[in-house]
Amino acid sequence: ISEMTILEASGQLLENTKMNLTSVLLAASVLTLTLGYLSKLLFRQQQQQHAGDRKYPPHIPSSIPFLGHAVAFGRSPIEFLEQAYEKYGPVVSFTMVGKTFTYLLGSDAAALMFNSKNEDLNAEDVYARLTTPVFGKGVAYDVPNPLFLEQKKMLKTGLNIAQFKRHVKIIEEETKDYFKRWGDSGEKNLFEALSELVILTASRCLHGCEIRSMLDERVAQLYADLDGGFTHAAWLLPGWLPLPSFRRRDRAHLEIKKIFYNVIKKRREAEEKNDDILQTLIDATYKDGRPLNDDEIAGMLIGLLLAGQHTSSTTSAWMGFFLARDRALQERCYSEQKHVCGEHLPPLHYDQLKDLSLLDRCLKETLRLRPPIMTMMRMAKTPQKVGEYSIPPGHQVCVSPTVNHRLRDTWTQRLDFNPERYLLDNPAAGEKFAYIPFGAGRHRCIGENFAYIQIKIIWSTLLRLYDFELVDGYFPAVNYTTMIHTPHNPIIRYTRRKTQTQQ
Ligand code: HEM
Repeated sequence: ISEMTILEASGQLLENTKMNLTSVLLAASVLTLTLGYLSKLLFRQQQQQHAGDRKYPPHIPSSIPFLGHAVAFGRSPIEFLEQAYEKYGPVVSFTMVGKTFTYLLGSDAAALMFNSKNEDLNAEDVYARLTTPVFGKGVAYDVPNPLFLEQKKMLKTGLNIAQFKRHVKIIEEETKDYFKRWGDSGEKNLFEALSELVILTASRCLHGCEIRSMLDERVAQLYADLDGGFTHAAWLLPGWLPLPSFRRRDRAHLEIKKIFYNVIKKRREAEEKNDDILQTLIDATYKDGRPLNDDEIAGMLIGLLLAGQHTSSTTSAWMGFFLARDRALQERCYSEQKHVCGEHLPPLHYDQLKDLSLLDRCLKETLRLRPPIMTMMRMAKTPQKVGEYSIPPGHQVCVSPTVNHRLRDTWTQRLDFNPERYLLDNPAAGEKFAYIPFGAGRHRCIGENFAYIQIKIIWSTLLRLYDFELVDGYFPAVNYTTMIHTPHNPIIRYTRRKTQTQQ
C-alpha cells in the first residue's frame, strides 16, 4: 500500500507544471530508493520465512504487493514459467493475488503431484469453489476424494467399448448434419462451430437421446450460463457476491437439473432398460450398496458434459489450424482416410479408428502443443519434500502440461508440429510425466478414450468434406485470458472437396 501511495503521490507531483527539474530528479530518486528498499524488505521477509531445516523453493521476488506476478503471468503464463525454469530450476514459487503458487516443472518434479495422496496435496481445496456451484453438491470435488473415485469408476463403467461402437455413428451423423450449414466454401469461426457441435455429440453420447432431443436454443443458453461459472472471477472472488454471471450460473444450474430429474424419473419408471451411460448411473451403487440419488446423477451428467466440452472443442479447433497450416500433412490425412476406410469413403467403423494412425498422431501432437488444461493444481496440506526443497502447507502446488510438453531439456524441435516424432527415437518417451495432457495419478482423466474417438471422428468427417486453409496465412495466437487457452480469432477458410464421398 505504501508503494502505491508513493507511486500515486509521485504521479501527482509530476503533473505539477510548476515543478522544476531538480525536484523531479529528487522525487524520482526518492521513488527509486523507496521501491528498491521495499522490494529488498519483501524479499528478505520471504527468505526469513523460508528458513528451516530444509530450504523452501526459490521464490521469485516481486515489488508489487498483493498482486505480485499476476500481470506478467496473466499476459504470458508459459513464457513466464519457462523463464522461471531457466533461472530458478524445476521447483519455483511466486505470489499472485495474495496466494503463493509453487510450480513443479518437468517430469521429475511433477512426480510429486502425481504420486501424492489427496490428503497431502488436495484437489477439492482448489477446485471446489469453481465446480460445486456448476455441478452441484454431492459430486466431484464436493465429496471426499474416495467417494469421487467411486463416482469416477461408475462413469468409467459407462464409457466402454460397446458404447464407443455406438458413438461412432452418432458423432459422424451429428458432424455431417451440423456442417451442412457451412455450404460449399467460405470463411467461418471454426472454434465456435466445434464448440456447438461438441455439445450436441457429447449430449447424445453421454446423456442419452432424451436429453439430446431437448437440446434447443434455450437449453444451449442454459449450458452457456452454467459454463459462465468457469471463470477466473469465480475462482478468485467470494461466491456470495451478487455478480450477474454468478446469478445466471445458479439459475441455469437449477433449470438444467429440473430437466435431468424429469428424464431420470421417466427412465426409472420405464419397463425396458436402455443401454447407455445414464442407465449405468441409474443402476450403479456405491461400495456400501447405496444407489446414486437423482441429484447425484444429475450432477454427474453436468460434470461429464462440461469436463469434455471445452477440452475437446479447443483441441479439435487447434488441430484444424495445425492441419490447415500444413496442407501436405492434411492431404496425407485425407489419403489415410481412403487407404484405411476405402476409396469411396463409406461411413466410419469403430475398428478403423485405431488404424487412422497419422490422424491419431496429429491429435497427440495437438495435445502436446496445445493441451487444453494448462495447469493442474493442488493445495499443500502437509509439508512436501521435493528434491532439496520443502514446500510448506498453504502453497498451491501446480504442474503445467504445456510447460512439460515443450521443455527444452526433454523435447527436440520442441515447438514444431511434428506428428512423426512419436515414430522416431523420442527422448521424452523415457520420462514418465513429460507428456501429460490427461494428467496422471488419482485425478487422471477418465474421458481420454471418448475424447480421442470423438475428435478423430469429427476430423475424419471434416477431412472428407472439406479442404482447409489459413485465412491469409493467419495462424491463431493463443488467447490467455480464458481458463482454457483457446485460439484467438479462429477463422478458417474451407472449400468442399471435389471427390464426392458416400454421404
Ligand atoms: C481432450 C479432452 C480432454 C482433456 C485434454 C482432459 C484433460 C484432463 C486432465 C488434465 C485432467 C486431470 C485434472 C487434474 O489432475 O487436476 C482430467 C481429469 C478428468 N477428466 Fe478430462 N480431459 C478431456 C476430456 C474429458 C472428457 C470427455 C471427460 C468425460 C467424459 C472428462 C472427464 C474427466 C474427469 C471425470 C476427470 C477427473 C478429475 C479428478 O479426478 O480430479 N475429461 N481431464
